[in-house]
Amino acid sequence: MKEEERILSGKIQADEEELYEQGLRPLTFADYIGQEKLKEKLNIYIKAAKKRKEPLDHVLLYGPPGLGKTTLAHIIAREMGVNIKLTSGPAIGRPGDLAAILTNLESFDVLFIDEIHRLNRSVEEVLYPAMEDFAIDIIIGKGPGARSLRLDLAPFTLIGATTRAGSLSAPLRDRFGVVDRLNYYNKEELCRIILHTAKKLQVAIDLRGADKIATAARGTPRIAIRLLKRVRDFAQIKADNIINEQVATEALAMLEVDQMGLDQTDRHLLLSLVQNFDGGPVGIDTLAASINEETETIEDVYEPYLMQIGFLNRTPRGRVATEQVYDYLKIEINKDKQQKLWK
Ligand SMILES: Nc1ncnc2c1ncn2[C@@H]1O[C@H](COP(=O)(O)OP(=O)(O)O)[C@@H](O)[C@H]1O
Ligand SMILES: [Mg+2]
Repeated sequence: MKEEERILSGKIQADEEELYEQGLRPLTFADYIGQEKLKEKLNIYIKAAKKRKEPLDHVLLYGPPGLGKTTLAHIIAREMGVNIKLTSGPAIGRPGDLAAILTNLESFDVLFIDEIHRLNRSVEEVLYPAMEDFAIDIIIGKGPGARSLRLDLAPFTLIGATTRAGSLSAPLRDRFGVVDRLNYYNKEELCRIILHTAKKLQVAIDLRGADKIATAARGTPRIAIRLLKRVRDFAQIKADNIINEQVATEALAMLEVDQMGLDQTDRHLLLSLVQNFDGGPVGIDTLAASINEETETIEDVYEPYLMQIGFLNRTPRGRVATEQVYDYLKIEINKDKQQKLWK
């Protein structure tokens, strides 16, 4: 299955950008549920920067897709009372493209670069002086006659978002004053997001229904909202437009999403790990190839959640299935081989 079609993917899907218009995205810290420590810190930094009449320090947000990085960037700009300009690593092809964006920023504006780990090297180098000195160096002319001209920029705040902080080059990472990760949401937080969204979508839902959806949402608001919308369709056609536990359970079963929030691809991965590789350890590339997925997708999307729920461990020798996986798959453990691993 393509990542874009997977109902449990944390990644944004084609029709979801319009969420903004529907007013589903929280606009203030108060409406942004969870991530309490991060919110508290950012709030302090924002207040302090405003008091000093300075732009906010550059912020790097990292964590799996769908946890609220882009939303948070919008909120930060709003709380600072400045404009936000959105772009992404892959969208900036040449250094000149970035220079054009930077020279168009107004004082204290936020520049949001999504997937910042995918900036190419020559573009990245434009960012160094921009972040450090609010200036860019432009080369004029060619050959021996070429000279470099420094151009001042308006002071701005760069907010970078990435699913893989480890892929960022050290010089880039070091230029962020604030580096923080977003964590998976607990069930109570997801329930609040689901109830809140249901209200905005004008669909009736009870606590148990919300709880059911939250359990299957992989700790991820984007997935919680997507599941809610699909369950809503189901409720509309089959259940008088009210989502309760039974309706949610049936709808999720129809979507082939199970109690743990795992879908076919997760189960395929776990089965392969257990059956083809005796539970590991197995290298990530080998594991990915065995189920016909890309290594990067496994690392960014599947693995973090499987690790979070204690199904998968990363060891220096490769990925290892934990005992819970055998319970979950109802497969007997090959004792001789596996007992050693867990000791
Ligand atoms: N803390 C939160 N409270 C409420 N809704 C949230 C929260 N975080 C994310 N969302 C919702 O989840 C969806 C995904 O958030 P987004 O910021 O696009 O994630 P990311 O940029 O990390 O992939 C959005 O529709 C957003 O409204
Ligand atoms: Mg995003």
